[in-house]
Amino acid sequence: MSKLSLAIELAGLRLKTPFMNAAGVLGISLDILRRVHMAGAGAAVTKSIGPEPRNGHKNPTFIFLEFGVLNAMGLPNPGAEYFLKKFSGTDFPVIASFFGSNFEDFVKVAKILTEAGVSALELNCSCPNVIEEMGMLAADSRNVGQVTAAVKQATSLPVFVKLSPSVTDIVKVAKAAQEAGADAITATNTLRAIAINAELKTPILANVTGGLSGSALKPISLRCVWEIYENVEIPIIGCGGVENWRDAVEYFLAGASALQVGTAFMTRGFSVFNELSDGVSEYMKKNDYSRINEFVGMAHES
Ligand code: DHB
Repeated sequence: MSKLSLAIELAGLRLKTPFMNAAGVLGISLDILRRVHMAGAGAAVTKSIGPEPRNGHKNPTFIFLEFGVLNAMGLPNPGAEYFLKKFSGTDFPVIASFFGSNFEDFVKVAKILTEAGVSALELNCSCPNVIEEMGMLAADSRNVGQVTAAVKQATSLPVFVKLSPSVTDIVKVAKAAQEAGADAITATNTLRAIAINAELKTPILANVTGGLSGSALKPISLRCVWEIYENVEIPIIGCGGVENWRDAVEYFLAGASALQVGTAFMTRGFSVFNELSDGVSEYMKKNDYSRINEFVGMAHES
């Protein structure tokens, strides 16, 4: 049997492990992205970058809940031009998450990030916290198809489309992304939710609603991955409540080819990547697998 390896190929990118940080949990500094890669992630994902600098929402923007985290940062970022000035290629895979308030913005930012020399783009059309301001493209499959096609025309890089779990038919949206040329689907972004303080009798976040991540999100995102895998051919990057090797294996069995870690990375830090690698390697040894793709989607065969 060949030697066990966690390395994968994802939309033409060679990654040393199938794990990455989820967008938004880091900034855009090259040093911190490099630390993620050195800590065992196959790729590092930036905070979402938009066309102009944004301060984001007022505090409180963040609260720990019993089974996860609720946040409404409001897409704070220094803008694509700033990123272009600071970033000029790397020797490890960097995936740039990006957004816009309309199709033209998405195309403009995609061009700037391509020029900056990142390895792939992750199209964030599913932020739950700027809906009044820019809507949520991921709620409508036609919009997702159109923005994906426009971005694909504007870049030679692989484009991953990150979808929202807050929709009735995620398969329809994933199919639209695939038909428009997406190279992979990231499933999923956070789920729109709310927390209320009983004593203060007010919503806790200044934005009132926020995006729920962590363990509470896992069974929902896992179901999304399952459904997308049954209907779409392009690879799926699972995201939502991956805390330990068992969660990771469940996502692979449901059909994910790679995984992003958000809340667990925020709470446990850099060690989470090697912990996942060790646990998944142990599982592979016990089950006689030498490559991840030998068991991707396996739960559909039973
Ligand atoms: C934010 C953006 C997201 O895509 C998300 O899932 C959660 C929060 C934000 O910046 O508010």
